[in-house]
Amino acid sequence: MELPYAEPYKIKVVEPLGRSTRQEREQWIKDAKYNLFNLRSEQVFIDLLTDSGTGAMSHHQWSEIMLGDESYAGSASYFKLKDVITDLLGMPHFVPTHQGRAAENVLFSAMISEGDVVPGNSHFDTTKGHIEFRRATAIDCTIDEASDTTLDHPFKGNIDLNKLESVLKSHSRQKIPLCIITVTCNTSGGQPVSMENIREVSAMCRKYEVPVFFDAARFAENAYFIKIREKGYEEHSIRDIVREMYSYVDGATMSSKKDAIVNIGGFLACRDKKLFEKVSMFCILYEGYLTYGGLAGRDLAAMAQGLKEGTEFSYLESRIGQVAYLGAQLKKYGVPCQEPTGGHAVFVDAKKILKHLPKEQYQAQTLAIELYLEGGVRGVEIGTLLADRDPKTRENRYPQLELLRLAIPRRTYTNNHMDYVAVCLSNIYQRREQITAGYRIVREAPIMRHFTVELEKV
Ligand code: F0G
Repeated sequence: MELPYAEPYKIKVVEPLGRSTRQEREQWIKDAKYNLFNLRSEQVFIDLLTDSGTGAMSHHQWSEIMLGDESYAGSASYFKLKDVITDLLGMPHFVPTHQGRAAENVLFSAMISEGDVVPGNSHFDTTKGHIEFRRATAIDCTIDEASDTTLDHPFKGNIDLNKLESVLKSHSRQKIPLCIITVTCNTSGGQPVSMENIREVSAMCRKYEVPVFFDAARFAENAYFIKIREKGYEEHSIRDIVREMYSYVDGATMSSKKDAIVNIGGFLACRDKKLFEKVSMFCILYEGYLTYGGLAGRDLAAMAQGLKEGTEFSYLESRIGQVAYLGAQLKKYGVPCQEPTGGHAVFVDAKKILKHLPKEQYQAQTLAIELYLEGGVRGVEIGTLLADRDPKTRENRYPQLELLRLAIPRRTYTNNHMDYVAVCLSNIYQRREQITAGYRIVREAPIMRHFTVELEKV
């Protein structure tokens, strides 16, 4: 018999989880104004709100925490991280930041001005928020295939070169400070970008003299997909693929809470010394001195170790395999999901499940609330609430997709947890016709409303 798959780690520390009754959950979600961000973590059984900062560190990372050097300047932990970034990514310059959006803030302060346009593949919400906050515009150039959840395309994160070229042609070079490739593309379903696409985007941008940056939060997961899906890369190591990916870009912002498997941290890396000098000023202003950037020395050390572990094939195989396992269970029950399953999350197609609800009643948010009520599972809406209002017209932006994202924390849950989640969703799917009303907004913030929005039942 062929030996079955087993995780390349064992569990040393466990964190007990509390169960609750449906009645308790009904009260808690009502008190939370039907916003899952407002729940206390003890009110959640399985937390799939995000894979960001929620992973389990290895014992090597915990040892690095003890070895952390807390010197204000010139910390040994900083140099440990610098060595890994130079080695793994081939980037000569970097500044640590406290997380990904802080890296965006530092980079965009140096690069983006009012009236600019920033093309890319479905910019993540903080990225878009930082662009729009500067009165610039993020232009989504993702391939059309990404918005058809049933289409099995290996690289749905790809940028459409025609869309990109039309942006590059129709604006002056001075108005396009950079192009951002998000690897993997979170907003379109944790979908990867092919090496071929990265290479072509890079070449096109070079022709128009526009720098290209990665939003690199899940760069290692992207590299894994290149290895298993892209012709010619089957025999390459993950680290060789990572190195090649970075060779095509001018820099990257990184949320280390994802593929560096730490609870907090990020960085900004770049090639150009002049840009590095410019961002250094904003790093000191917003984050902290250049050798700690808003983090403790121990965080830098754990991040250095996490970058090494996060780019190991056996780890990625187990991680992405678990996400695929949940996707396969849901498919078995007939629950419509984004195909193929993404790297860090399963994206459930709420528009298909609750097609009888008007879009004004927030289908994906309604499904997220139902899932919490059903089994204490917390996912997150990737739909109209997240898409926010048009900054000019203040009208709701209705995205093509209404998704419920189930993001899987790294090395944290077992496949029994995945089975539990799948059955919860299957039960909801069976009784979907009985869900006859959604929610309406009673209070919202002017920007990034989904974090604090308050809702009531229609
Ligand atoms: N870019 C991408 C692609 C992200 O997914 C995130 C965060 C960020 C940037 C910002 O990084 O949180 O460290 O400031 N994504 C989390 C999520 C929050 O749940 O997907 P951050």
